[in-house]
Amino acid sequence: MTRNEAEEILKEHGQEHVLRHFDDLSAEAQEGLLTQISEVNWDDLALAGVQEKVPVGEISPLSAVDIDEINARRAEFEEAGYEAIRAGKVAALLLAGGMGTRLGLDKPKGELNVGINRTLYLFESLIHNLMDVTSVAGKSIPLYIMTSEKNNDETIRFFEEHDYFGYPKEDVAFFVQEMAAAVDYDGKLLLEEPGRLATSPNGNGGWFSSLKKAGLLEDVHKRGVEWINIFAVDNVLQRICDPAFVGATILSGKVSGSKVVRKVDAYEKMGVLCLEDGKPSVVEYYEMSKEMAESTDEKGDLLYAFGVILNYIFRVDKLEEIVGRHLPVHVVEKKIPYIDEAGNLIKPESPNGYKFETLVVDMIRMMDDNLPYEVVREKEFAPIKNLHGVDSLDSARELLERNGVEL
Ligand code: UTP
Repeated sequence: MTRNEAEEILKEHGQEHVLRHFDDLSAEAQEGLLTQISEVNWDDLALAGVQEKVPVGEISPLSAVDIDEINARRAEFEEAGYEAIRAGKVAALLLAGGMGTRLGLDKPKGELNVGINRTLYLFESLIHNLMDVTSVAGKSIPLYIMTSEKNNDETIRFFEEHDYFGYPKEDVAFFVQEMAAAVDYDGKLLLEEPGRLATSPNGNGGWFSSLKKAGLLEDVHKRGVEWINIFAVDNVLQRICDPAFVGATILSGKVSGSKVVRKVDAYEKMGVLCLEDGKPSVVEYYEMSKEMAESTDEKGDLLYAFGVILNYIFRVDKLEEIVGRHLPVHVVEKKIPYIDEAGNLIKPESPNGYKFETLVVDMIRMMDDNLPYEVVREKEFAPIKNLHGVDSLDSARELLERNGVEL
C-alpha cells in the first residue's frame, strides 16, 4: 500500500491521525505501518462499542455423559482413547496466544510460577499433565502451541531454556496467531509506537485457521492425526488428551466433545452447553433468562447444568470443513498501552478501549454434534485469571494442594 492509498482509506474512516508521525519514521518503519494499515479489518472497527448481533435460535437442553456414567464405563472409554492415542490419531493444542492482562504479567502467562516453596510453572505443569498420559500410552502426542506475535519468541526461548520440561522436542510445534488493531472508546485506532498500530491477538477462535496458515495442517495429516484436543494455558489442573474423554467422544460417534463441570448454582457465570435449533451451542450466562437458568428436570436437577471449561476435542475433517466460516466478532474492553499525541507511552491502569476477538465457543455452533463430558470440578478446574479472588492464583494453589500437589 502506498502512502496516498493509506491516506485515502484512513480519511474515509476518520483515522487520519495514524500518519501523524509518518514523516519522522525510517523507511522500514513507514513500510511496516503501511502494511499494518492495509491489514486493518474495517468491519471489526465499525463494531466498536457495540456487539455483533447473533440471532439466538431455539434453545433446548443437551444432556451430558455424567460422572456416574463415566465411572461405570471408564474401562471401555479409556481403552478406546488409548487405542486412538497409540495409533497417533490424537494431538494436543495449547492456546497460549492470550495477553493475560488481568494477571498483569509482563511475560507469557504460561511462565507464571504457581509454586510456593519450589518453582512450578504453568507450562511445566501442563506438560506434566500431558506426560501422565503419554507415559501410560507409551506413545508421544504431537503438541501444537499457539502463541502471538507478542509472546512467541519468549515462549520458545522459555521452552528451550527448560528443555521442554522433558517433552520430546520433535513433537512440539509453535505457530503464531493473527493480530487485530485496537481502538480507543471513540473508535480511533491507537498507536503503540510512532510507526506501529496498537494490536492485540485476535482471540482464540482463529486457532485452526492460524494452524492452517502456518502450514501445520500438513504436519497434522502427515502424522495421521484425526482428533485435536484444545485447551487453555491457565487451567492448571486440567487433564489433557484424557483417554476416557477421547474414547467417550470417539465411541459417541460425534464430531466433537467438551469437558464440562456442573454449575455450583443456577446463576454461576459460565457458558452453558445446550442445543440451539438442534445444534450444539454455548449460551453465555448473561444470555440466559431467569426461567431458563432455574429450570429443572423431574429429579429437580438443573436442565442447563453444565458449564464449559475451555477443553474441547474436535475431529479434524470437521474442522477442515468449517475453516474460514465467519465467526462473530466480540468487542472486549481492555487496557491498551498507547502513545499520546506527544509520543509518550501510556500504560493505562484501567480499560481504555476495545479489542476485537473471535472465540472458540462460537465454533461449537458449527459442529453437527458435541458430547458434553462431565469432570469433577475440584479435580480438573482451576483456572487462573486473576492474582487473587475468584479464578485466581490463590484459588488454584488451594485446589492444587487439595489434590495433593506439593507447592
Ligand atoms: P482468556 O480469555 O483468559 O484471555 O483466554 P487472556 O488474554 O489469556 O487473558 P485476559 O483476558 O487478557 O486477562 C483463554 C485462553 O485462550 C487463549 C489464552 O492464552 C488462554 O489460554 N487465548 C486468548 C489465545 O490463545 N489467543 C487470544 O487471542 C486470546
